[in-house]
Amino acid sequence: MGLTDQLPGRPNQKVIVALDVDNRIKAMELVTNLASELNWFKVGMELFSAEGPQIVREISDAGAKVFVDLKFHDIPNTVARASAAITRLGAAMLNVHCGGGKEMMQRAVEAVREAAAQERIPVPKLIGVTVLTSMSQTVLTGEAGVNRELKEHVQALALLAKEAGLDGVVASPQEVEMIRAACGPEFIAVTPGVRPVWAALNDQKRVTTPAEALRLGSTYLVIGRPITGAPDPKAACRKILQEMSNNDDK
Ligand code: C5P
Repeated sequence: MGLTDQLPGRPNQKVIVALDVDNRIKAMELVTNLASELNWFKVGMELFSAEGPQIVREISDAGAKVFVDLKFHDIPNTVARASAAITRLGAAMLNVHCGGGKEMMQRAVEAVREAAAQERIPVPKLIGVTVLTSMSQTVLTGEAGVNRELKEHVQALALLAKEAGLDGVVASPQEVEMIRAACGPEFIAVTPGVRPVWAALNDQKRVTTPAEALRLGSTYLVIGRPITGAPDPKAACRKILQEMSNNDDK
């Protein structure tokens, strides 16, 4: 991949580029263009639904790490079997909804480990989704019927994920400190909603700069449009990684 700096914890190991595109050509163009700068890419529902599981194999065969962001939420047996299938594709990270309960998460953990052992491949990181950042307190309580403070609910679900054996959760950067306090320093926090000051907000409302997300304790930063929608995605990517490195040095 031509990366000169592959040490764990360096910015190029922490940024995950969200490939929110609707076809393989656009996705592989971005992967080819950006693979010299970093090595994590996220395949979400749109790209997976359009191109199928082969896109995960293709990106991973190109030498990159793939986060398969399909947010599984179903009965334990179904989620376990789907998680095993995603593992066999060569995903390095995948996720499930914490709201599916502890047994569902535990079964996913076991299935992912078994599938990786059978295939003799590294065990992918299994991440929980607590409360979607698009949910407000009004929706959580009025529609989903959850009578807890949103923050308290996020924290409780993160703790449940940890107890079930998950490696971490997806969270907004603003929630990371609270999650760390509850789940400890090793627990992974994957944070979207990251915007450099020079980029457009798009539809993200509460945003944090990459440097600030790092300072707050994010393990991985999911960044989409500031890179993929830039006139020169590679230059935007370099600029972001440089800003993060400068912050590391302080
Ligand atoms: O383009 P942008 O940087 O906003 O992309 C963020 C990515 O993270 C998208 O793929 C989006 O679906 C995902 N995401 C998010 N907020 C969440 C969970 C996931 O923006 N709470």
